[in-house]
Amino acid sequence: MIVNINNLVKEYKGFKAVDINELSIKEGEIFGFLGPNGAGKTTTINILSGLYTKFNGEVKIFNKDIKGDSIYIKKNMGVVPQDLALVEDLTAYENVTFFAKLYGLKGSKLKDSVKETLEFVGLWDRKDDFSTKFSGGMKRRLNIACAIVHKPKLIIMDEPTVGIDPQSRNNILDTVKKLNEQGSTIIYTSHYMEEIEAVCSDICIVDHGKIIARGDKEVLKDLVKREDGERATLEEVFLSLTGRKLRD
Ligand SMILES: Nc1ncnc2c1ncn2[C@@H]1O[C@H](COP(=O)(O)OP(=O)(O)OP(=O)(O)O)[C@@H](O)[C@H]1O
Ligand SMILES: [Mg+2]
Repeated sequence: MIVNINNLVKEYKGFKAVDINELSIKEGEIFGFLGPNGAGKTTTINILSGLYTKFNGEVKIFNKDIKGDSIYIKKNMGVVPQDLALVEDLTAYENVTFFAKLYGLKGSKLKDSVKETLEFVGLWDRKDDFSTKFSGGMKRRLNIACAIVHKPKLIIMDEPTVGIDPQSRNNILDTVKKLNEQGSTIIYTSHYMEEIEAVCSDICIVDHGKIIARGDKEVLKDLVKREDGERATLEEVFLSLTGRKLRD
């Protein structure tokens, strides 16, 4: 297991934003974290990424306690935040270099990694442009590049496709699959069930901070029997479990 969560509770002034009894994520997966707005996805990710240190319960990544060995964990993890984390006064190349240096890359290793990563996300030919000139999709791709330049074993993506056109979205989904094929475990967060369906195998559905269903996506779809005999969608599973729609 690459992530183990036990009895995790995160409160904001008495309001329980996350309340997860148990969650383990296997190495090598593209793990889907599906839930509507306000379900607690970003809060959970901020705990996993070490941003929030005040919480109750136990979180282990790479079998190490996140409260103990956070440097080792951070070095081997890449986080693509929901809100873009780019420096506007820097070019695409300089942005990725900035993050690579944060992760301790130096010299030719640094240069090679930055080039390889910009090529990987399809932005090498735009490397000298400022991110302010980029389209939404390109900014998202650059955001991903910054998070993966150090080749992390675990990549956490928080809604990396919000607000972009379908082509850019497919491009990012392909990138997710490629990163996984190259050996990274991925936690993919979204409130679009189509995306979760397209890339993830093992998923959990969260609502009001709690896991309401967990398992193989095909098994989850069998939870709901449709009258017409067709396969249920994850959206229908969510509706049947909560009585509400995943999206408005
Ligand atoms: N800093 C904060 N202070 C108080 N409440 C917060 C804070 N951050 C989040 N919350 C609340 O905690 C709950 C979970 O929020 P969170 O951002 O984790 O959800 P999410 O699943 O990522 O939603 P979205 O899909 O909109 O990004 C929400 O009810 C939210 O209003
Ligand atoms: Mg969020």
